[in-house]
Formats: sequence, C-alpha cells, structure tokens
Amino acid sequence: MSFLTIQQAPARLNRSELAVPGSQPQLFEKAAQSEADVIFLDLEDAVAPDDKVQARKNVIEALNDIDWNTKTMSVRINGLDTHYMYRDVVDVLEQAGNRLDLIMIPKVGTASDVYALDMLVTQIESAMGYEKSIGFEHIIETALGMQNVNEIAAASPRNESLHFGVADYAASTRARTTIIGGVNKDYAVLTDKLDNDDRQTHWGDMWHHALSKMMVAARANGLRPVDGPFGDFSDPEGYRAAARRAAVLGYEGKWAIHPSQIELANQVMSPADSEVERAQRILLAMKEAAAEGKGAVSLDGRLIDYASIRQAEVLVEKANQINAA
Ligand code: GLV
Ligand code: MG
Repeated sequence: MSFLTIQQAPARLNRSELAVPGSQPQLFEKAAQSEADVIFLDLEDAVAPDDKVQARKNVIEALNDIDWNTKTMSVRINGLDTHYMYRDVVDVLEQAGNRLDLIMIPKVGTASDVYALDMLVTQIESAMGYEKSIGFEHIIETALGMQNVNEIAAASPRNESLHFGVADYAASTRARTTIIGGVNKDYAVLTDKLDNDDRQTHWGDMWHHALSKMMVAARANGLRPVDGPFGDFSDPEGYRAAARRAAVLGYEGKWAIHPSQIELANQVMSPADSEVERAQRILLAMKEAAAEGKGAVSLDGRLIDYASIRQAEVLVEKANQINAA
C-alpha cells in the first residue's frame, strides 16, 4: 500500500439512483415509496426553461413535506454556465438544507467548478448553522470533464461520487449513438478470414474507456463510481447488460430514469448470495491458513492469498450494508 491513506466517502448504498423531474410533483410520493437507494430531484435537463422556477419551489416543498424515510436525497442543480444555478443552490439549501444529503452537479468541467460550488455551499451552511455537511455528486459528461476527471475527483472533501452521464457525453464527444447508454453496431471487430471464410462480428462497448477512466478517478479518491442513464426503459435486458458491464468494472450503482429500472439496478449491483457465501469461505480459509503460518492456500482448486481477503472483505461488507438497509 502507498503511505497515502485514501479518505473514503461516507458509506451509502448507491445501487440505484432514481431521477425524478422537479417539474412533475405528482411523481414524488411514488418515488419516496420506491426501493431506490438514492433519489435525485432534477432541476436541470428534465425541466424546461419556463418551468425552472416552479420546479425549484416544488423540490423545496417536497424535501420539507414528503416522508422520504431513510433515502439519500439529492437535487440536480443547473449547470454553472446558467443563471439558474446560484438560486438553485441558495434557495434549496437555505429552505430545505436539513433534509438534503447531496447536490448533484451536472457537466462539471474543471476542479475550479467544484471549488466555486464548495465556497457557495460552505457559506450557506455556515450562515444557516447547519451541522451536517452536504456532499457532492458530479456528473462527468463532457470531454472537458473527462479530461479533468482526476482533478475533479480530488477537488473537495464534499465529493462523494462520480456519475458517467453518457447522454451528454455522447453529445459532447460527438459519438454516434441513438439510444441513451446503448451501443453502436459499428463499434465492432470483424474477425479475420479463417480457412473456411467464416467471419464473425463482435460488438464492442464503445463506453468502456470512459467508464474505466472515471472509475479509476473515483476509486483513487475514495468516491463511488455510478453509471448513468439507459434511455430505453422498454428494454430491461439491454439495461441489465449495461449495468452488468459497469458492475464488473467496479461500479456501485446505476441510474434509473424510470421506476421499472430500480429493481434491475438493485439486483445487478448487489452481490449474489453464492458470491457472498464464497467470500465468507475465503475469509475462513485464510484465517485457518494464518493460524498455520501460511500466506496462501488453495480453495476449491484455486489459489487464494491476502489479495483474496481484501476482495472478500469488500464483498461481505457490501452484503452487510445491504442487509442493514
Ligand atoms: C446525464 O445527465 C446524461 O447526460 O447522461
Ligand atoms: Mg446530462
């Protein structure tokens, strides 16, 4: 291990993160009763310019009046390039800061964006006498944000999570896609011709590099990497496949832009019982090995060592967190 200790963000379940437009208050109660781990009430892209002011009022009222139970609550503010942003932060925090856990910052591009927000939030918290500190979730969804993701991830002790915003990222990088979070058949490998002239097309994941890069920046700074939207909510298999790819890379969760995606995210982002059981057996086997003075042993015909302990501990800890929720 490095001598540098990585400060970990507060441990929160973030398997599913439900997006709820601030302009549609009729959806709030149902969202509160859903199984989503985190809810973000949106003031940004799901809200038309003419509805921004009313949406802000709706969100403030909802945070104060609705019973959100133990849910982690977030508000997605407008971008730093808009004049809506300062009022989003000031009004929501001053009037509903007690029930808010996180602020979601869209299209963050540089560490200075985070610094500016941190200053504003710090002043409001101090003026209001709030005891708890609001966390930040950043959407990495522009070429600039991805270029600076390492600095963004390290820019504030308020940072809790990074989110891959594939829709805006596609727009910013001019990637060729039609479905939000989907893949493109042109991003494929055509196998070489073999003796029998048989060739196959293997679709690739055009988002792999971006997902990996953001994941490393998040983990290296103790933050949760969370995958963003999958637009086709009539395609649960497509959603599951995208969520699984993210989970395999180390992502903690995925957005749900429709209530039907909550359960899918919770399932994919929770370790399977068989995985937890194996992790527990690894911990037991290594405990026995340590008692015998051994550093590595075999379990089910496979090598396990101290790295296996760390992996198993992460898994068991996640399972405990889920069971406690
Ligand atoms: C989310 O905001 C996205 O653009 O994908
Ligand atoms: Mg976006």
